[in-house]
Amino acid sequence: MKLSKKCAAVSPSMTLAITSKAKAMKKQGINVISFSAGEPDFNTPQHIMDAGKKAMDDGYTKYTPASGLLELKKAIADEFVKIDLQYEPSQIVVSNGAKHSLFNTMQAVLEAGDEVLIPQPYWVSYPELVKLADAVPVFVETGDDFLATVADLKAKLTSKTKALILTNPSNPTGAIYNKEQLEDIAAFCVANQIIVISDEIYDKLVYEDVCPPSIASFDGMKDLTIVINGASKAYAMTGWRIGWAAAPQNVASAMGALQSHATSNPNTIAQWATVAALTDNRTMQCSKDMNKAFKQRRNYMMETISEMKYADYVQPGGAFYMMVDVSAVFGKQYNGRQIQGSLDFSDVLLEEKYVATVPGIAFGADNYVRLSYATSMDNIKEGLMRLDTFLKEAMEA
Ligand SMILES: Cc1ncc(COP(=O)(O)O)c(C=O)c1O
Repeated sequence: MKLSKKCAAVSPSMTLAITSKAKAMKKQGINVISFSAGEPDFNTPQHIMDAGKKAMDDGYTKYTPASGLLELKKAIADEFVKIDLQYEPSQIVVSNGAKHSLFNTMQAVLEAGDEVLIPQPYWVSYPELVKLADAVPVFVETGDDFLATVADLKAKLTSKTKALILTNPSNPTGAIYNKEQLEDIAAFCVANQIIVISDEIYDKLVYEDVCPPSIASFDGMKDLTIVINGASKAYAMTGWRIGWAAAPQNVASAMGALQSHATSNPNTIAQWATVAALTDNRTMQCSKDMNKAFKQRRNYMMETISEMKYADYVQPGGAFYMMVDVSAVFGKQYNGRQIQGSLDFSDVLLEEKYVATVPGIAFGADNYVRLSYATSMDNIKEGLMRLDTFLKEAMEA
């Protein structure tokens, strides 16, 4: 059957593709070390799971309002108050994960031909989500710290620029914009009336004791910003599929209407579990424990990779990813296989040393592979040892 032009143009997610290849190898009994996970390796905290079970026992097994439960919207609004942002529950739309919130956002605000600025490296789904809204992704090159400056953004500004996607902290780099950098970008967006789609899904996973403010909290920005967040990463709830957007009222209403026809409400039980995630005091300790483990792993990775002769990295301040520069081996061969770029690198490394990484090309950064440290310290130690051996063998063959 002939596909619509729109769907024929969508590429499948490269991160999910590598994860499933690594999983298939594991199933065959191969000892694969996977650095490709895009989700916390911890289970959802027990009290959140209990809240889900209780929701079922209490009979919360029916539809909720299409844009989400009022109880959950209120709990989300209270979270925003903690970062100096006031939203009415009606300005919040709860969806099937933050990815769905991003999809709804783009459908609600983008017109055909609108240009959307996307700093590189970017999360894989942004360009596809922009294209699905008939808009045009415009990639913005960044410097060594992977953070876009106003000068970088200005270089790509045209009369068609409608929006900017800002990810803070970033997947895939873990880079974090600080207050001053956000202030500059906010002033630029206000001056040019650029909508900011601010993806803050990793805002609780930061390791330098400074939580970045939301760009929505700067002068003139609240009416120009749609803040995206969710339960997936902060509370180890990826499978529950709860994300949300906070937006100007007309945008939130449009997103709610769209969702009411496309998917109706996100899973009712998962919404109640998320109420517990946001309101139960026990969540704070679980988050602290998870952050502590991520920080230890990040630090170990930084120490170990700095000692590697043929790899380099950019220090991540948050999320659970690190971009590792492996371009030293580009142009080399390994067991007769040519390594031309990150795609070859990830493929040969997986097949030869059973280590799964995500090729940087998926994020618009071909010199790198992305390593996720959402895996055990034992796996990290073994995986980095194999990576180092691979690099040396490729270079010194
Ligand atoms: C930057 C970023 N935004 C959004 C998402 C989507 O999150 P969810 O699982 O809630 O759809 C992810 C997941 O990997 C992500 O890394």
